[in-house]
Amino acid sequence: MAHRWKNDLSREDVTPEAVWMDRRRIMAGAVAGVGLGLAGLPGRGGAATGEELEPNSYEDITSYNNFYEFGFDKGDPKTHAGELTTEPWSVEIDGMVERPGRYDLADIMARMTVEERIYRLRCVEAWSMVVPWQGFELADLLNWVGVKPGAKYVAFETLYRPEEMRAQRQRGGIDWPYREGLRLDEARHPLTIMATGLYGKPLPNQNGAPIRLVVPWKYGFKSIKSVVRITLTDSEPETTWNMLQPNEYGFYANVNPNVDHPRWSQARERVVGGGLFSPKQPTLMFNGYEDEVAALYEGMDLERFY
Ligand code: MTE
Repeated sequence: MAHRWKNDLSREDVTPEAVWMDRRRIMAGAVAGVGLGLAGLPGRGGAATGEELEPNSYEDITSYNNFYEFGFDKGDPKTHAGELTTEPWSVEIDGMVERPGRYDLADIMARMTVEERIYRLRCVEAWSMVVPWQGFELADLLNWVGVKPGAKYVAFETLYRPEEMRAQRQRGGIDWPYREGLRLDEARHPLTIMATGLYGKPLPNQNGAPIRLVVPWKYGFKSIKSVVRITLTDSEPETTWNMLQPNEYGFYANVNPNVDHPRWSQARERVVGGGLFSPKQPTLMFNGYEDEVAALYEGMDLERFY
């Protein structure tokens, strides 16, 4: 089966979506939803609404991107991210961990269980997509390195390599490297994954190869790409967008249709690939993952902690 899958992908007349759908059917039949958890996936994806999510096309997902290291236009990442070398790749895991070190990505992958997760992606700019990711739960990685008592946050950094990431040569107002962070309980939540692929293929560079964070209930800017460092800390880490515009981009950045961005409404979103005249759809609280994550924020004022 693996062989057939590989062969299919190398054929130019077969789209990644078609192969992926075909493979999902085979896998669903073979394992009946156990193991890879395929039966549970639409549930995870559709979450609160319970509906099956229809993924965007591979073309949409890989040609309409935000990856400012390669430029500010949506097409720049696809045009320029090929300049990034992603092999070899290692991730430094440091701070309040039992076993700090620079881990080779291959060694990490040998220990992690990769599954498919079909998640909504809602950008703070009020557009959205549905992406069929492959990845592993960040919690498993944190358990493997061992989190020390007292750690409260996880900080993430993207690669800084101006020779290959053209916008890092121009600075462009951003204090590179791109940085993000989560509270430890958010990082350990089962919906939080480190993605290494989409549509059954290795992650394309423009989507954050070879490994990126995906936190589906938060605005897309939290889902940091091409991660090279993960640091456990006891204080809230600095994050790129929050440092740039603290009144517009908070540390939490939970998707919330009731809290507008100072310059636009967050109540609705444009679905990428829906066509120029297709109506915007309502944005869901926590991007549709309210049942799973609302408890993390119990008692918190979500207007203050935006
Ligand atoms: N990570 C890095 N390193 N640099 C970025 O510019 N953009 C963020 C996020 N991760 C970004 C990043 C934003 S604003 C969004 S919406 C998502 O990546 C977009 O992910 P996608 O291009 O895979 O859809």
